[in-house]
Amino acid sequence: MFPLPYQGHVNPMFQLANLLYSKGFSITIFHTNFNKPKTSNYPHFTFRFILDNDPHDERYANLPLQGMGAFSRIFLFNKCGADQLRHQLELELSAKDEPPVSCLITDASWHFTQSVADSLNLPRLVLRTSSLFCFLIYASIPLLDDLGYFNLSDNTATPLLDGLGYNNVPDDERLEEQVAEFPVLKVKDVIKIGFKKDNDGMGDIISNMVKQTKASSGIIWNSFKELEQLQLETIRRDIPAPCFLIPFARHFTTASSSLLDHDRSFFPWLDQQPRNSVVYISFGSVAQVEEKHFMEMVHGLVDSKQSFLWVVRPGFVSGSTWLEPLPDGFPGEGGRIVEWAPQQEVLGHEAIGAFWTHSGWNSTVESVCEGVPMICSPFWGDQPLDARYVSDAWKVGVYLENGWKREEITNAIRRVMVDEEMRERSRVLKRKLDASLIEGGSSYESVESLVDYISSF
Ligand code: UDX
Repeated sequence: MFPLPYQGHVNPMFQLANLLYSKGFSITIFHTNFNKPKTSNYPHFTFRFILDNDPHDERYANLPLQGMGAFSRIFLFNKCGADQLRHQLELELSAKDEPPVSCLITDASWHFTQSVADSLNLPRLVLRTSSLFCFLIYASIPLLDDLGYFNLSDNTATPLLDGLGYNNVPDDERLEEQVAEFPVLKVKDVIKIGFKKDNDGMGDIISNMVKQTKASSGIIWNSFKELEQLQLETIRRDIPAPCFLIPFARHFTTASSSLLDHDRSFFPWLDQQPRNSVVYISFGSVAQVEEKHFMEMVHGLVDSKQSFLWVVRPGFVSGSTWLEPLPDGFPGEGGRIVEWAPQQEVLGHEAIGAFWTHSGWNSTVESVCEGVPMICSPFWGDQPLDARYVSDAWKVGVYLENGWKREEITNAIRRVMVDEEMRERSRVLKRKLDASLIEGGSSYESVESLVDYISSF
């Protein structure tokens, strides 16, 4: 198994690895030294560190370790990783006294691995860590580009790597129009993805990801059928490879694959809070905000008068180490701020009434798994798409689509905390998910058929 070395990709891959191990498979993990997992948490797995072993190799010696620049590894290794990967796989395939290799499972964004696997006659399965609808929309980027949607934006040459935030989307009433090809979406949602057909390396990564996912032997999704039934039907019509939809958060937590240490010191405080009274706030492992937007968040929170638990990663506020911009006396007794939390456990805590999220796909699925309604502040990539589905398709959240404005933040928090219909819809979705996991349910069957499928190789 070969995860993309970023938290939002490492977590689902290790959840899948734990699941397959629990079904009797031996697991070997290929990983970069960058964002190395805690191998001691996985004494039952074999680890091979590949691609960036040579500290003197100038190609990656000086790559950024944090922020958007850290993603440059995706470009680099997709371009020049094939020989090393082939060599490592040949060693695994010829190893004596080891169980035979059944297949390679890689993150979908490691598109270069398909031709390597093909050259060794090794089946490659793909783990796609975002939603099915995101895949369909990404697959349509060339079409949406040809239709001129992206001409409405002020995208620069490398918008994603410049950290395009949704505040950069220009003001134009056409942006509010529906996308004919995906009626759930508004035009501005497509623009907020942050990259298009050929404008930069990211567009190429996405189109190769789509192409090589279609060419794979099977696709594993962190999702469940009842959430994305129509999209599953479309994908099954278009792609011959079998699909397996598994909501990983209901099988294993991400505690052992966390790249940062979880702070648990707030639990005694959280335990004392009334049921459904606390807003949990986290924007994932990568997103960053400007200080003025951070302060809008602070004021929006204070004015909402709701208790909160806020994950502020060091470096989340551009130009600050951690919490320097905060006013004296904040957060006070009504809130707690930590650097990193055991998110799934927090979302499952009965005191949590809402999740203010950047709408990363793991966070979205984890929230759905616990029946927690969301306030969505997406940044780029799949996040604006996730936010739109959460608010407009499943109606289990509010989308703060006008950026960071304190009044809107306050209103959204208040609304989600008291909207009983939204809370009930979140519970209904959770119940559907729970039912899918019981023997005979769609997620249960997906796991069984994945195990049978890998065993058949
Ligand atoms: C990124 C993209 O944002 C996401 O949209 C894409 O689908 C995968 O890669 P990230 O931004 O980190 O990931 O967000 P998300 O997908 O939500 O993943 C974050 C993970 O970190 C979740 O599994 C979450 O449980 C975990 N987390 C987050 C913690 O363990 N503790 C925290 O305090 C915050």
